[in-house]
Amino acid sequence: MPLWSGRFDSDPDKDVFEFGKSFRFDRRLFEDDVTGSLAWAEALARARAIGSDDAQAIATALEEMREQGRWDPAFFDGADDEDVHALVERKLVERVGDAGRRLHTGRSRNEQVSVDMRLYLKRRVPVVQTALRDLAAALAGRAEAAGAAVMPAYTHMRRAQPVLVAHFFLAHAAALRRDHARFAAVLDEADELPLGSGAIAGTSYPIDVAWLAARLGFSRIVANSMDAAGDRDFVSSFLHAAALAAVHVSRLAEDLILYSGEEFGYFELADAVATGSSLMPQKKNPDPLELVRGKAGRLIGHLAGWMATMKGLPIGYSKDLQEDKEPLFDAEDTLVGSLRATTTVVSTLELHEDAALRAADGMPLATDVADYLVARGVAFRRAHEIVGGLVRQLVAAGREFSSLTLDEWRAHSDLFDADIVQHVTPRASVEAKRTPQSTSPEAVGKALGALKTWIEGN
Ligand code: ARG
Repeated sequence: MPLWSGRFDSDPDKDVFEFGKSFRFDRRLFEDDVTGSLAWAEALARARAIGSDDAQAIATALEEMREQGRWDPAFFDGADDEDVHALVERKLVERVGDAGRRLHTGRSRNEQVSVDMRLYLKRRVPVVQTALRDLAAALAGRAEAAGAAVMPAYTHMRRAQPVLVAHFFLAHAAALRRDHARFAAVLDEADELPLGSGAIAGTSYPIDVAWLAARLGFSRIVANSMDAAGDRDFVSSFLHAAALAAVHVSRLAEDLILYSGEEFGYFELADAVATGSSLMPQKKNPDPLELVRGKAGRLIGHLAGWMATMKGLPIGYSKDLQEDKEPLFDAEDTLVGSLRATTTVVSTLELHEDAALRAADGMPLATDVADYLVARGVAFRRAHEIVGGLVRQLVAAGREFSSLTLDEWRAHSDLFDADIVQHVTPRASVEAKRTPQSTSPEAVGKALGALKTWIEGN
């Protein structure tokens, strides 16, 4: 029997009731529902809304149920409840009878599901953050191992300038650190106690919500009961943080797919994280990275779908809000899965230093040639033009800077001296950089140190 059957003459339509059920997915909130209910029973007793003997009976039974739910999958067997809240109340009443029927005094499932979701996020967001940190740590490990190795950096997917391979890994780690902070903001948003809001208007029992908040580990109480009943901004923020993190891992995956392919060949994927072709014997495919890239689409979809669900809702609770759970849980699972797979791929990645160096040499040094002239007093725009002409000539002849004789250099500007060859190397190019966010070995060393400190502290 549903929790609300008293008002109705007939039983619910079987199929329609089935359609409305959320137990299949919200059973994931079981522990949180029990945690919230334990605290609520105590709060009711403190408000003298139920007797302390009833509160004690409820507490003992709920604790026992929580234990059993943890180790005994049969606890949920055959459960045909409308949702996890109904399951918990049914099992409680089975154990303690009328005391269990007193638990829902002054409380609504509207606030109950909100407190459950918030408690769930308080438990699970740190797991997501750990997965982000672990991937950042794997990137730091690759950065450290890469040492002084260089590779080309790309703009418009065309070779731009040499960078340290370490700088490339740290670039992706920088985005993951922002994701970590974004999830911390989600935690902060979820950190408000909605209990005491009732169904929409508040509760008429003198519940000490400040005590209840402290008891459940919330640092604040929601400001408005009407808002609280239908507020799922913390879900929206989670889905946004998850979608954006997925976009970041997807971009890392795309880089690794490209750079480990034959056309680039800067990295080699470990056999253990590559897949073969059923037809072509030579293939070594980056399937896990492609899946990571593909799944980002799904996470963006969860965010977009959920925003569309929210946009037409009147203030207060509507059943539409039940649609928050499947995208939230799937976003969590999908993101953590993607992060963990990528962590394994990154930590087993092999660097082909020579191929990366070869690609960074040559034309990507054109800016350094212009800078050489600027250092000798030429206006940058003029230097750009001179080097542009030089490049045009070299490209037409299929040659590189390194093949130029001093006379040939001087044909373009008499400011070129024999020392130009020392300036026009990938190594000199990265060493010439001067800003803290640049690819200069000193800056990259500091950035790696800062990342490692952050990893230790998180
Ligand atoms: N399963 C519901 C949900 O996820 C629980 C809240 C139900 N509240 C109600 N008034 N029907 O939103």
